[in-house]
Amino acid sequence: MQFNPALLEGLRAARGLAILTGAGISAESGIPTFRDKLVGLWERYDPSELATLEAFERDPDLVWGWYEWRRMKALRAQPNAAHRAVAALSGLVPRLALLTQNVDTLHERTGSRDVIHLHGELGRPYCQMCRAPYRLTDEILDLPEGGKRIPPPWCASCGGRVRPGVVWFGETLPKHAWQAAAAAARDCDAFLVIGTSAIVQPAASLVHVARDAGALTVQINPNSTGVDEVVSFSLQGAAGQILPGLVAQTWSRDLA
Ligand code: OAD
Repeated sequence: MQFNPALLEGLRAARGLAILTGAGISAESGIPTFRDKLVGLWERYDPSELATLEAFERDPDLVWGWYEWRRMKALRAQPNAAHRAVAALSGLVPRLALLTQNVDTLHERTGSRDVIHLHGELGRPYCQMCRAPYRLTDEILDLPEGGKRIPPPWCASCGGRVRPGVVWFGETLPKHAWQAAAAAARDCDAFLVIGTSAIVQPAASLVHVARDAGALTVQINPNSTGVDEVVSFSLQGAAGQILPGLVAQTWSRDLA
């Protein structure tokens, strides 16, 4: 694929690059997105029954079992060419910030460091009462599609219920992650937004922050999103197809 020379020039000139990823970057690894037609999780499951504190309090076994199913899916998944292209950027760009809405940690498993997790991590549950982290075992469970009812563990410190380590609807983002992400968006010269519908706030607002601060903004997505009108360049297609070529052509790095 040939890219617009102005896009390549803009990326090459960037001293600071921030990247925001969403579920779409892991789609080619077999991890379902949330809103894609037919296959998206929120097309098949009701978020009000699974992704709110009220849902967890009402039916903790259902919610814990569903997140365990997602955690097992993520543990079995392999990073794809787009994760690898992102990881290859460290060392090529003077200042790199990787912000993700994903809870699967496939970026870390590809070698990316200092990933800013806006929506938490499946592998980091914690006590709903005292917030103490809970240590999971390495056991890989064989769970049916959608999971099954599994009682969540109890906290060893206070006896409270342990909850999945993700941000639910109605909850605020982890303060430190949000502050770091907002600073990265404000301070970058180029902002790459990959595989997100860009409709969930406040994560999506980072694209506006970067644009308003004068950054070059570039989107990679096969479909239209909430920031189509905001970004300087929209590259239409799958991240695993587009990103390796974009990195190779921008920084003359062979990723084959
Ligand atoms: P969505 O499911 O809303 O959007 C996924 C995006 O990925 C869509 O725009 C797709 O077009 C795009 N996509 C699909 N396949 C792709 C591919 N191969 N390459 C590139 N893009 C592709 O997921 P998010 O935007 O990540 O929150 O959703 C944001 C948040 O909403 C999630 O973090 C989650 C959800 O509720 C929490 O769990 C807190």
